[in-house]
Amino acid sequence: MKPKEILVFGASGQIGRHLIRKLTKNNYKVVAVTRNIHQKGYVLKTQANPGYLEIVELPYFNLEKITGLIERCSICINLIGILYEKKKHTFKNIHTDFPNLLSKLSAEKNIEKLIHLSSLGIEKSQDSKYAMSKLEGEKKIKNNFDNFVILKPSVVYSVDDDFSTNLMTLLSYLPLMPLYYEGKTKFSPIHVTDLTEIIFDVVQGKTNESIIECVGPETLSFKEIIIKLLKAIDKKRLLIPMPLSIAKMTAKIFEIMPNPLITVDQINLLKHDNVASGNYKTNFDLGIKANRIFDEEIEKYSFNWRTGGQYSRDKISNIKQ
Ligand SMILES: NC(=O)c1ccc[n+]([C@@H]2O[C@H](COP(=O)([O-])OP(=O)(O)OC[C@H]3O[C@@H](n4cnc5c(N)ncnc54)[C@H](OP(=O)(O)O)[C@@H]3O)[C@@H](O)[C@H]2O)c1
Repeated sequence: MKPKEILVFGASGQIGRHLIRKLTKNNYKVVAVTRNIHQKGYVLKTQANPGYLEIVELPYFNLEKITGLIERCSICINLIGILYEKKKHTFKNIHTDFPNLLSKLSAEKNIEKLIHLSSLGIEKSQDSKYAMSKLEGEKKIKNNFDNFVILKPSVVYSVDDDFSTNLMTLLSYLPLMPLYYEGKTKFSPIHVTDLTEIIFDVVQGKTNESIIECVGPETLSFKEIIIKLLKAIDKKRLLIPMPLSIAKMTAKIFEIMPNPLITVDQINLLKHDNVASGNYKTNFDLGIKANRIFDEEIEKYSFNWRTGGQYSRDKISNIKQ
């Protein structure tokens, strides 16, 4: 069977890598766009069998090249996103202007579908530039092109994430863990494999819903997540509610670093729960399950942060000779 062609922007990220594997295994040909083939080529190449993946380097915005790529594909998936701004890489550029362009070109070239990854819970976060830029991006897409699907995931986790892995690194080194908003902010963490299944169902046209909130099977507060991670890495730490003024002051210091662990904008974002809003259908409403449990999944990789490593919990003396 001739493979169908899918264009993926932001393919080297956590979600992109998992998605490439799923798509190419199922006879889709993926054209993966990256800014730096030398840095990301090895990550991308290992996700697919030969012949199913083409890697295109696009180091800077190039209208002619992007138009050419859209023209070739039947489905375009946009996974580009940032958590903090850097020089020209502003939230507006990445989360609003780029989706605006993609949706205009999708309409012009009359492609089958544009799938765009936005975020859950952004409607309430008026004081977050990240949230407002994502929301504006959604509006542009809705205005420009009819055949869009916007997916709005809660926090996505896996061994390849910047969430559970960064938190476990912090918990390994810090004697205490600050809790913003007393750790009460709620999330519905979704495992990347479950999210990939949702995207795959959308690619296959198994659902006609144009906006889907993507959530996992549990609702967990930030504090509950930290407690689960601590248990997984066998560590005990003081969990200290941090006053907002001090939280923002420390975040401002972090912002000086090239890759800040937390920013003021993210603290503003954390003010609101990151769970299904009730305004749109969720994957569960559409019969697309996301069954992976946070505890069980982090157990599969948390040993990397445990003293003694993977077999540190096994009692060697109990093993029969
Ligand atoms: N992960 C989550 O918890 C989560 C939750 C809600 C929504 N989302 C959204 O889902 C999408 C994918 O998430 P992800 O976790 O897979 O993201 P990710 O791991 O951070 O990867 C995003 C990709 O975007 C590309 N990229 C980053 N900055 C860029 C820039 N300035 N210009 C052009 N390309 C850039 C990078 O590809 P190259 O370096 O190869 O160019 C990167 O691999 C994003 O839109 C994100 O906002 C994620």
